[in-house]
Amino acid sequence: MEVLVVGGGGREHAIIKKIKENKEVTKIYALPGNGGIAADAECAPIGAKDIDAIVDFALEHKVDYAIVAPDDPLVLGAVDALEAKGIPCFGPRANAAIIEGSKVFSKDLMKKYGIPTAEYEVFNDMNAALEYLETAPIPTVIKADGLALGKGVIIAETRDAAKEAVRSMMEDKVFGKSGDNIVIEEFLTGPEVSVLSFTDGKTVVPMISSMDHKRAHDNDSGLNTGGMGTVAPNPYYTEAVAEECMEKIFLPTINAMNAEGRTFKGCLYFGLMLTPKGPKVIEYNCRFGDPETQVVLPLLESDLLTVMKAVTEERLSEIEVKFSNKNACCVIMASEGYPEHYEKGYEITIPEEVAENVYVAGGALKEGKLVTSGGRVLGVTAVEDTLPEAIKASYGLVEKIHFDNAFYRHDIGARALAAKEE
Ligand code: AMP
Ligand code: GLY
Repeated sequence: MEVLVVGGGGREHAIIKKIKENKEVTKIYALPGNGGIAADAECAPIGAKDIDAIVDFALEHKVDYAIVAPDDPLVLGAVDALEAKGIPCFGPRANAAIIEGSKVFSKDLMKKYGIPTAEYEVFNDMNAALEYLETAPIPTVIKADGLALGKGVIIAETRDAAKEAVRSMMEDKVFGKSGDNIVIEEFLTGPEVSVLSFTDGKTVVPMISSMDHKRAHDNDSGLNTGGMGTVAPNPYYTEAVAEECMEKIFLPTINAMNAEGRTFKGCLYFGLMLTPKGPKVIEYNCRFGDPETQVVLPLLESDLLTVMKAVTEERLSEIEVKFSNKNACCVIMASEGYPEHYEKGYEITIPEEVAENVYVAGGALKEGKLVTSGGRVLGVTAVEDTLPEAIKASYGLVEKIHFDNAFYRHDIGARALAAKEE
């Protein structure tokens, strides 16, 4: 069986390594993949947003199954286009991917179906938004409607900062058309939990919970990033919380999407905040999270491809999805300066015994050598019986990897450890 994976980051590397465990898989293609993924899949230089070229490639290479991992191609209809040519896929169609593609859509969906989330107002007129901010509670949260590379959310601590955020999105269009509409919402507090789930539109199977670390530097200082590390499971996500989320959030969301004629099939990611008033949805993603995937999939004991195909064929209720009860920690090694300016092209050395634990996000091959090509360069995951062991092991592996200008956080998992002791 030949499998095509669309995307080229650490998340895709984790998916590919897991898919490879299936004995029926004879070939994996990655579009575009990256220099590190090239060790595990055949990469071709086709961008993840180039839907026509992806479909042509899939037909030409007669792939049997496609996995569309990133948000952009999903929102642009990659699954619809592949399915139209008879290629079975893992991932939602465009009409369901909108749950991530439009914050206005997802907020209105939650309101209509009574799914707990922050209170909010939607604006398409800048002056109305600015006027609203004269009396809105502060801090407040400003979100661009559309995809914005994970940067479309601004938490404003002052009224002036909030107005500035609105102007940057609606007047200066820093996120382009994504800022035509904005959401201004209530600032919530509490621990955050990421829950990825498999769903075929009938059944929802939550994966093991995880915790992201979004700020660039230790003690949650510095700028927001795509994620500097993760641990799984997330100690705040107790069995009681899980039950409440299933009843009040997960099932209602699947049902709401069905009721809207937008059945969601694929991986639905629930970004949750456990507020004093109960769990609330901060955001939905229509895909696997990055770097959550790099701790969640190593704990999956069931065969990933079998689960994915059950989702595609709408028979998820018939199979068992098993996770190990171990702990995983992923530390991201980035290029100094990320998420702003950084240099590329430094050689990466990964000792052979560590390679299995490494998921490359920003690596390119230059004269046969792996060099840095992105801000987030790679993630290193260790799985151990306990969280302290997993943290220690992943940092031990990090020390064996080298590239110039590397930096990483030293406190991945510290918050989770503290939570366990509370
Ligand atoms: P997002 O890009 O939607 O994941 O948002 C980025 C981060 O902003 C989240 O992980 C939260 O930490 C924070 N955030 C988003 N919405 C809210 C909110 N309503 N209240 C507090 N923090 C928020
Ligand atoms: N780690 C958050 C995301 O994938 O959006």
